[in-house]
Amino acid sequence: MPKESPSVDIIIFGGHGDLALRKIMPALYHLFCQNYIDPNSRIFSTIRTEASNDDHRELVLQKFREYHPNNYFSEETWATFASQLFCFEMDISDSDNYKPLAEALNEFPERDRVNYLSTPSSLFGDICTALNETGLVTDNSRVVLEKPIGKDLKSFIEIDDLVAAVFPETSIFRIDHYLGKDTVQNILALRFSNTLFMPLWNNKSIDHVQITVAETVGVEGRWGYYDKYGAMRDMIQNHLMQLLCLVAMEPPRSLQSDSDSVRNEKVKVLKSLRQMSKREVAENTVRGQYKSGVSEDKAVPGYLEDDDELHESDTETFVALRADIENWTWSGVPFYLRTGKRMSGRFSEIIIQFKDIPHSIFPNDGQPLEANKLIIHIQPEESIRLLMMNKVPGLGKGMRLRPVELELNIAEDDPRSPTAYERLLLEVVKDDSTLFMRRDEVEAAWEWTDNILETWHEDNIKVKKYVAGTDGPSSAVALIERDGRSWHEDA
Ligand code: BG6
Repeated sequence: MPKESPSVDIIIFGGHGDLALRKIMPALYHLFCQNYIDPNSRIFSTIRTEASNDDHRELVLQKFREYHPNNYFSEETWATFASQLFCFEMDISDSDNYKPLAEALNEFPERDRVNYLSTPSSLFGDICTALNETGLVTDNSRVVLEKPIGKDLKSFIEIDDLVAAVFPETSIFRIDHYLGKDTVQNILALRFSNTLFMPLWNNKSIDHVQITVAETVGVEGRWGYYDKYGAMRDMIQNHLMQLLCLVAMEPPRSLQSDSDSVRNEKVKVLKSLRQMSKREVAENTVRGQYKSGVSEDKAVPGYLEDDDELHESDTETFVALRADIENWTWSGVPFYLRTGKRMSGRFSEIIIQFKDIPHSIFPNDGQPLEANKLIIHIQPEESIRLLMMNKVPGLGKGMRLRPVELELNIAEDDPRSPTAYERLLLEVVKDDSTLFMRRDEVEAAWEWTDNILETWHEDNIKVKKYVAGTDGPSSAVALIERDGRSWHEDA
């Protein structure tokens, strides 16, 4: 069961990395401000270059201001928070270096410990082994693993086995920050706290589902990481497949009594995904890579030039694909997934496209009626809209119809909604793993994506180039149009 009022020691491995400074530290500060973290808690960062605690605090503050230039900052609270930040320069792959960290942690041996591994997953095994060898793993220790873990099923299992040799499954928190987003959680609320949709949520009423996560950014300073992974491993294998699970899963027994109810249902979906044949991979998947273009009114370089050096690479920065779930509920309902960098806009959305009415009684000037559509916007703005047909009001117009949207605006009056990392870190501190991925979930996701990745490799399926600032290669449009459907576009 989740714990209340935690006092905790948090150790961030990779403490000066982009993720730690951009997302984890600000999230911890906000939890601290809201009294979700006890003020006696300490935050240790392992770093690679020499720095004093004061240098470290200065850098954390500087990055906080750079990435979060808003008003949600108090000098006074920051001073208290910063006094609990400490750093250790160390080679984290070698247990001989853990002594100073161990001395600090052992001041409070009973305290809850959260080890956040914000490093490449190739280091996870070494870090866990070193923690174990230095006696730093107690009954109150947990470990948080950043995605992607491994590059395929085989490497995932190798890494996870090393972690599992030290931590029990109940103490391993595999993070997918999409599961911490408010709108993503709202999918559960929408589906399972209203009677309205449940009877319609199946292949009798739904024609197809679209899930798009479009970004305007390029690979930024992450070329080295990104080129080894690509969009399939960086986004589809985790974020988009998790969204697919939340849309397609059956009602879990409970959200509260145990962390497994939701995860059991998600695994069933992942295991029901049809493995594509080689022919289907060629037909139902598209790989793209951006070339130079204009993004948000600025000329931007192509992927190959998007680093300090020029490169040759066939890594995909865009993927579109059709997934099919083989079960009674979803048979015959394609799920179209699409994600890419340097697309025309930044938006993440889920479209539930309902079927056409079976017969129309309205002449409607020969115009076809639009089928109902549920549009779930995850970001940048959060909203849920239901498209319905409605009569054009007034006299003399006969019975003409037009589509209108019912809007459920979920933004609160408080303009600072908690970030996904804030929510997920709080869950870790409370020791509740419902929103984290279980080992079998990650395995099932890798199994499905591995099949596609292998076919791309074996059949030499090359990336198709697209101009930065557009919606990917034209074959992504053809992919869905071949089925007589089209990607949703906001009017
Ligand atoms: C990360 C990916 O997991 O998610 C990044 O590694 C991507 O490549 C990011 O940009 C997108 O997250 P968000 O929350 O900005 O949609």
